[in-house]
Amino acid sequence: MPNAQFIQISQPNAAAVAQELLQGLCAPQAMTSPKYLYDALGSRLFEAITELPEYDVTRTEARAMQLHSSDMAMHLPKNACWIDLGAGNCEKAGRLLGPMAAGRYVAVDISVDFLRSAIENLQRQHPDLPMMGLGTDFSCGLDLPDSLNLDPAQPRVLFYPGSSIGNFTPEQAVGFLRSLHSACGTAASSGLLIGVDLLKNADELEAAYDDALGVTAAFNLNLLLHINRLVGSDFKVRDWQHLSRFNAEQSRVEMHLRARHALRVQWPGGERLFAAGQTIHTENACKWTVSGFDALLQSAGFKSTRCWTDPATRFALFWATA
Ligand code: AVJ
Repeated sequence: MPNAQFIQISQPNAAAVAQELLQGLCAPQAMTSPKYLYDALGSRLFEAITELPEYDVTRTEARAMQLHSSDMAMHLPKNACWIDLGAGNCEKAGRLLGPMAAGRYVAVDISVDFLRSAIENLQRQHPDLPMMGLGTDFSCGLDLPDSLNLDPAQPRVLFYPGSSIGNFTPEQAVGFLRSLHSACGTAASSGLLIGVDLLKNADELEAAYDDALGVTAAFNLNLLLHINRLVGSDFKVRDWQHLSRFNAEQSRVEMHLRARHALRVQWPGGERLFAAGQTIHTENACKWTVSGFDALLQSAGFKSTRCWTDPATRFALFWATA
């Protein structure tokens, strides 16, 4: 059994993280990057979200993959190097590696520590498949380090499931997808397999991000506890209210945290006053149409695209060749 290899790209220091966060918190419309939603508790709350009746993104994607796996296997290259972006527990890719006859597996996530046990587990199920874990923050674009020693002749499948692309505005998304296009390398038949949640009616979308049990509210509010640890601030969860609203003009669900009353937040060396009702914009979840996302892939440099959906056309899987 080959031993999985692990590489960690240097992480930004605590001061840089705090500075980035404070800059967003002090902007006229306060905002934070959605990546800060995923501390240890946030990651577990997100897993719980995927089991909620109101949030069908994860289940619908799995269903579409299952439904179309033999067609997918016909169009995707065999013996490819699968690069799993935001691999987490490696579960989604784990279901595809066998059926798609993968030749190598590279799991990428922000911290290599999240990947170790998942990869070791997966390695036991695929003892002959070479596996690697790469810890890097690819939220501003993917840069594959030379130390991965990828074979330039082996086709690559960049795998970006879960509709995480929805966190980017369309303008940000083109830039990000261009970086994925160049990470596809030069081997023939390489491409991007990406999951995209499709536009549906506003009530359903808002409920998916504001569930009856309050799990999404907890997920959003937990950000404040994470920020307190990262910048030394004194956010009190009880002062804030979770808000999900569908912004039809921008075709996205926005998550905000809304100040329940006028308040002051302090941290070492600074503070900010929030008026009652003022918000911190914590996440965008952009919803696409099939034709809109197809056009986006083309403008990012991808050539041919193929799309599979669930029977109700709620979620799309795109295979875009580089
Ligand atoms: C992981 C970014 C795809 O936007 O649907 C779920 C995150 N936020 N509920 C999404 C999320 C609130 C999720 N993504």
